[in-house]
Amino acid sequence: MEPVFVAPNWLSHPLVLYPTILIALATILVRVQSWRFGTTSKAQRRIVQADPIGIDSKASSRPSAKRLPGQWIPVDFKAPDPPPYPDWDVKSTKPLPYRPFKYGPNYFVTMGLRKGNFDEWIELDNEFLKFHAIKKERIEVRGDKCCKTAPEAMDAAIELLELLRDYLPKRYPSMFVATPVGMNNIVTGEQFNIVQRPLAEEPMRTIGRLLQDDIAIMMEGSDGQYYLKSGSILLPGFWKLEEKFNMNLSDIHTSGNVPQFREKLEKGMTNFFKRVMPDDIVLRNNYFMQVDDNLAWSDSIGPEDSDHTGWFTAQKNKVIENHWFRSERQSLRRLPRSGGVVFTIRTYFHPVTEIVKEPYIPGRLASALRSWGDDVANYKGRERYQAVLLEYLDREYQKQLDSGMITEDSQSPLKYPY
Ligand code: HEM
Repeated sequence: MEPVFVAPNWLSHPLVLYPTILIALATILVRVQSWRFGTTSKAQRRIVQADPIGIDSKASSRPSAKRLPGQWIPVDFKAPDPPPYPDWDVKSTKPLPYRPFKYGPNYFVTMGLRKGNFDEWIELDNEFLKFHAIKKERIEVRGDKCCKTAPEAMDAAIELLELLRDYLPKRYPSMFVATPVGMNNIVTGEQFNIVQRPLAEEPMRTIGRLLQDDIAIMMEGSDGQYYLKSGSILLPGFWKLEEKFNMNLSDIHTSGNVPQFREKLEKGMTNFFKRVMPDDIVLRNNYFMQVDDNLAWSDSIGPEDSDHTGWFTAQKNKVIENHWFRSERQSLRRLPRSGGVVFTIRTYFHPVTEIVKEPYIPGRLASALRSWGDDVANYKGRERYQAVLLEYLDREYQKQLDSGMITEDSQSPLKYPY
């Protein structure tokens, strides 16, 4: 006779049977949700810890690729409420001293992403009012060129506005106060109603007034590529929203001749955008030299409205007072409802003559400038300022050695990006 499996009697007892069925159903439900939304289990999260930015390993263990390109299934995710920024004050909180350049001898082009923290998503400081005044004027004069949203990204732009309404009053309560219809800036006296329809103004203009950052929203197309569909690009320095609007990520970068984009960046960026989820936030920093003090548009590379701008037009070897250090702190996160990927670009802008007062900075900056390969040097316009700048940095480095501020073999205790 064939052996027959007989369930033990205790299994059919209601106190055992019903909870077992419930647990089985709950497990199936969680699996289905995780499949639909691409969320991770605890075991998957443990894998994430081993990966520095936690995108690749998390995503590869998620079947989120099952959704069709260009279609996003809303995810029920909300970042924890941020605590107030410690002792933040619009007059006294200084810009964070990002100095994201490294000693040579070699400079490597990399994506340079690191894991961020949702509490620190947006950084504001005592340059807010200066940035705000420039942005306000530019919105009036050239708002249509600098702030735009394609119809397919309107929901994402409004979602971002809502996210900022939730974040800013909690993070910067001495400047933003939530209201039943949005929020007020109690320093500038502005009131923002984000629920009325039509909105009082294009949402990217409002977002420009709320932040020191510039913002881009990337939307996935039906080809799986990410397109620039909404932007508040009021202080870009060297590029224009009008020229890049509707472009995909690769075209945005290749049209700007970003060095080694195809070899070193394209694949990683494509993967990153495909996989980034609403519970991820990543950061990157960069730096440039500028030979004028115009935060919004570096006019030494030509007038903003010219079609033919570039370092080739910049005057060579200006006096050192015209050399400015420009650095961006960027963040990337995905909006849970619309699936748009928000790119924040916060610029930090200081005269070189100021940052050289900090220990190690002149020596490290000189070493970094010398480490650029020809492609990076061309992109960053080195030939236009290197003679004056390197001579100055070397001199300031020597002064730091002579005064005993630093020694030849000591290194700053501060870690990248400081
Ligand atoms: C993983 C994300 C990204 C990486 C790793 C990346 C990388 C880079 C790099 C290496 C450069 C050269 C300057 C620098 O060192 O920063 C650059 C330039 C640029 N990136 Fe990105 N990028 C990313 C995302 C984006 C996004 C979402 C936008 C959308 C607006 C964007 C727009 C630009 C523009 C406009 C430039 C200047 C190009 C030019 O000079 O014309 N990037 N990017």
